[in-house]
Amino acid sequence: FFQPFLALALGYLLGSIPFGLLLTRLSGRGDIRDIGSGNIGATNVLRTGSKGLAAATLLLDALKGTAAVLLAEWLWPGHGRIAAGGALIGHLYPLWLRFRGGKGVATLLGILLGLAWPIGMIYAAVWIGGLLLLRISSVAGMAAAVSAPIASALLGRGELTIMLAAFALLIIYKHRENIARLRAGTEPRVGRSRA
Ligand code: G3P
Repeated sequence: FFQPFLALALGYLLGSIPFGLLLTRLSGRGDIRDIGSGNIGATNVLRTGSKGLAAATLLLDALKGTAAVLLAEWLWPGHGRIAAGGALIGHLYPLWLRFRGGKGVATLLGILLGLAWPIGMIYAAVWIGGLLLLRISSVAGMAAAVSAPIASALLGRGELTIMLAAFALLIIYKHRENIARLRAGTEPRVGRSRA
């Protein structure tokens, strides 16, 4: 009876660990929320100038999603999906940061790899392809998020489609400042200049 709540809580706790904030602070680079876009994600950690820290943030933010799904599935079989929801909400709205969390792109990658790895591979391909093509992290991330429910429907995992569509909407909503910058033509590109 309590299993869904436990899975949700486990997912939320893992998802709400703000690795980008912790790593930048521990490395003596200050508060990531005062830098660049103010976001706690890997893209913004890259703006501190450290590729290593950005890669570590990406990896750990993804892994916490995978861990939430696999751990919940192992402890309470059939509850990986609820933990997935908890993990994404935890990353987007962490209690510890007064609910001001990240944008969810890396965490959703990890969740998908734990939940249904073929969808995760498509998501990763869209994300990396988008990044290489456009060099705008937010657009690539949002495109990847939208690709997930489409991939689940096409790959015969229709039972995930509504949840993944809700995840995509949440991630797009979290990118509303990026969308405003995109419309104004001021959204920065990744990997070309520091400007
Ligand atoms: O994953 C976050 C990315 O899509 C946008 O990050 O820092 O450019 O707002 P940022």
